[in-house]
Amino acid sequence: MAKISYRVRPETAVLTRGFDPALSVGAARPPVYRSSTFVFPSPEAAERAFGIVLGKIKPEGNDRPDLIYARLNHPNAEILEEQLVPLERGANSAAIFNSGMAAIFTVLITVLERGSSLIYTQPLYGGSQHLIHQIIEPLGFDVRGVPAGNSRALTDAIAATPSLKLVLIETPANPTLVMTDIAQAATALRSHPNRPLLAIDNTLLGPTFQHPLVHGADLVIYSATKFLGGFSDLLAGAVLATDAELIQTLTGVRALLGNILQADECWILDSRLSTVALRMNRQSKNAQRIAEALAKHPKVKRVIYPSLFTDPEQRRIRDAQTDYPGSLLTLELVGGKTGAFEFLRRLKIAKNAVSLGGVESLVCHPMTTTHSELTPEEFSAAGITDAMVRISVGTEHWKDLLGEFTYALAGI
Ligand SMILES: Cc1ncc(COP(=O)(O)O)c(C=O)c1O
Repeated sequence: MAKISYRVRPETAVLTRGFDPALSVGAARPPVYRSSTFVFPSPEAAERAFGIVLGKIKPEGNDRPDLIYARLNHPNAEILEEQLVPLERGANSAAIFNSGMAAIFTVLITVLERGSSLIYTQPLYGGSQHLIHQIIEPLGFDVRGVPAGNSRALTDAIAATPSLKLVLIETPANPTLVMTDIAQAATALRSHPNRPLLAIDNTLLGPTFQHPLVHGADLVIYSATKFLGGFSDLLAGAVLATDAELIQTLTGVRALLGNILQADECWILDSRLSTVALRMNRQSKNAQRIAEALAKHPKVKRVIYPSLFTDPEQRRIRDAQTDYPGSLLTLELVGGKTGAFEFLRRLKIAKNAVSLGGVESLVCHPMTTTHSELTPEEFSAAGITDAMVRISVGTEHWKDLLGEFTYALAGI
């Protein structure tokens, strides 16, 4: 088949790059290559492949080493990584992991050096925050949390941390949807003597509505379990960067940790990529209609949703770095935890489950589930209350969802 040698748009690239049917008996879609090891064409080729992997030989141009062993790399990971790249504006390279947590952990353990510091915005996804406190901090790294959305506090913390190596920002934050200015953080890091790296957890709005690499981030991290996977049926993670060498360093650590995504999972996730933008657009339209309709409901104290932001600074960040509001919304209900639980109890279309980004709507009570590891001080710093329910809006008809939410609110 003739190769496309000119530049095409992401929707086209995701369906045309990374896979050559001629290498797979003409199959139009990639097969699953379930093999833990790969046969070398010659002992010299084996020596060369190991030399490249261990950094003893530098590959020339686009010259790729032969595959070795599936913990290092395998065809379905390569295909998936190649097809992820065009979806992330500014990316040149991608690495795939067996969960979002695996992706975050690999970034932290690779970038942080002995005696160095990590700054992160609060709240992060509860699991990420737990990972930092349970594993990263006890390993001896210095960790500092700053409130999401407070550019001044972040810039000051960057300037006041000489041993800084990495800043991890989740924007919008989960579940408060507070946005942090990526470009401002990137500028602050560029004037730091260590030139620390900026990693953005882009799970909530990426890759369709927010493009952190364009705003100066070094690494974009995903729980691909969410919008990329899209059907709540697999776990995966991904990291993308403009600098391909940075990704190569991560895949070197991945080979040692053994947290690459397996062939079957790569194949499933790969088949979802061409519909990410379609699904996210529909989900965002649904969520906006529902959020705006519930904003004046007497049982709802507050709807947290980007199109309803009132704070001028949050509106500024929203307009500067996001294209559409996305499909996550948080309701603060009357009646505290009891009100929130009564709401959840009455749902039938939307499921009371954690996770987000799938075609089916999911609703949870963050304080007692996704963020239950947080301390009372962290809850108040993050602005998470017991009256909050987080809704991940799916692709169902928005009127059915709004009808159900209105019915559930009547029960409070
Ligand atoms: C924003 C965010 N980052 C990371 C993760 C972790 O991803 P995974 O569950 O795929 O390990 C999650 C999971 O809920 C998340 O919501």
